[in-house]
This record gives sequence, C-alpha cells and structure tokens, in this order.
Amino acid sequence: MARHLLQLEGLDAAALTALLDRAEAFLPIAQRTAPPSDALAGRLVANLFYEDSTRTRLSFETAAARLGARSLALQGAGSSSSKGESFLDTALNVEALGVDAIVVRSAIAGGAHLLARHVRCSVINAGDGRHEHPTQGLLDCLTVRRALGSIEGRTVAIVGDIANSRVARSAMHALTMLGATVRLVGPPTLLPRSLGSIVQHPERLSISHDLDAILGDLDVVMMLRVQLERAAGGGVSSDYRIQYGLTRDRANRLPPHCIVMHPGPVNRGVEVDDDVADDARRSQILGQVSNGVAIRMAVLQGCIGS
Ligand code: NCD
Repeated sequence: MARHLLQLEGLDAAALTALLDRAEAFLPIAQRTAPPSDALAGRLVANLFYEDSTRTRLSFETAAARLGARSLALQGAGSSSSKGESFLDTALNVEALGVDAIVVRSAIAGGAHLLARHVRCSVINAGDGRHEHPTQGLLDCLTVRRALGSIEGRTVAIVGDIANSRVARSAMHALTMLGATVRLVGPPTLLPRSLGSIVQHPERLSISHDLDAILGDLDVVMMLRVQLERAAGGGVSSDYRIQYGLTRDRANRLPPHCIVMHPGPVNRGVEVDDDVADDARRSQILGQVSNGVAIRMAVLQGCIGS
C-alpha cells in the first residue's frame, strides 16, 4: 500500500478489496475476540483534528492501540492555531517530534493533500472539508460486504446532503468501483448539479429526487446528516423529514434484507426516525463503528507497517 491514504478516488477494485480483506483479518482483534497485536509497537501516530469528531478520532486511537502504536492528539481549538500558526507549520512541527503518521481532519478540501506534499511521514485523511473521508468510505464498504455478503450488483441509495458530504464522495467512488449501483437521493439544492464523470463508472451512478419511488429496489440505504456547518443554507426546509427522512413508514417499504446505514452523528427524528435507527434487524449504524476500527487498523498497518 502507498505511504499515504488521501482519497478513494483513483483506487482500483484490487486495491480496495485488499484493504477490505486486510481489515476483515483484523476484525477479531478489533472486536476483542483475539488479543491485541504488536505489529506497530514503537510507532507514533499524531491525530490532528481541526473539525469536531467523536467516532473517527477515537477509532484511529483505538486502531493504533490494538496494533501496539501510541497516539498523540491535537485539536484545532486549544492549539497554537489560535496564535496564528498555519496548518502547514503545525504539521511540520508535529512531524519534527518524530511521528510516523499524521491523521488529519481539516475543513479545507485538499488539506490532507497539502500536508502530504510537505511532510515525509505518512498522511491519512480523516476528512477534508467537502472532499473525501476515505476510511469512512472503506468502513461503509466493509459493512455492506459483511452484512450482505457482496457489494457487486447491490443497489445503494445515499440520501441527503450529497453536495456537502465527504462521506458520500468517498462511498460513491468505492462502491461503484466495487460494482454497486449508487443512487444519490435528495433535494436539488443538496445534490451536485451534474454528475459528469464524477466516478470512473458513471453508468453506475444516478440521481433521484424521489426517495419513495426507489425504496422497494434497495439493498442498502445510507442516510446522511445535513451539513449545516458547511452553509447548506436554503437547502433544508422544515419538511425535510417528510420528503427525505427514513421514517418508520418508509423503512416498512424497504425489502426485508435491506440494511440501514448512517456515518453518525445521527440527528434522530430528522434524517432517521428513532425506531429505525435502533432496529437491530436492519440498522448497521453501530456495526459501522466497529468495522471502522478494523479498517483503520488495516490502513495504519498499510501506511506505516513494515
Ligand atoms: C462524518 C464526517 O465528519 O464527515 N462523520 C464521521 O466521520 N463519521 C459525517 C457528518 O459529520 O455528518
């Protein structure tokens, strides 16, 4: 595997599958049915988070710990960025401490790429603005593969604020590359204006504004949070839930095997109703979090393992 993981766009099916396979092999350690490994003993991973995070940051820390590596954490708030130090200077200083990898979340699309051009250690993108969130895309793929047995030929709806979602962008690249059909569903204001050649297999990607019309054909429904912090602005009206929420009534119209996913944080009662989020038969929301640890183990091992 390459030294950095900056995006899923451009990774071919073999590279994606190799990462999923590696993660699957790490699952027993991630789920604590096997003892931790010391594969990354002595390695140091710095988590630089300039945007809020619960799952992603703790997941990287957990993954590092399960492989015997140590983590350092720096959050934008409380760091010298409030004294005017630039993002890049901070990263160069963190590298000078002697870390093996920088895991970075930034509000700037391309933030992780910028660091990768200037530091010698590994850079792993934990979300860069509206651009990509590659480890989330991988954990989404692993979740589909484990829950349904396959990705190829599956129909996945990604519903909500597609335009502002790095989660959607990473997921659509990986899922279509692995042979799934992806339908982007949402109000026109929250969808990209044109699909153009957004993914390498454009024939596997389509747009729909009518969630009700496609419910019966889905294998996976992935709900997204409306990214109010990215000025989704006029896109969200009070009837968002009526049109695009995964209500109990809509969930009842999904095929019995269809799974429900959400990257978190969930706004209950907006994009997903309570009892749909908690329906153990369909909901993979917590499973995604567990799978994420194995994915991040695989990525850390791939980037900084020997
Ligand atoms: C997402 C993110 O930050 O991009 N969350 C996550 O990493 N699991 C999605 C979101 O904030 O809505």
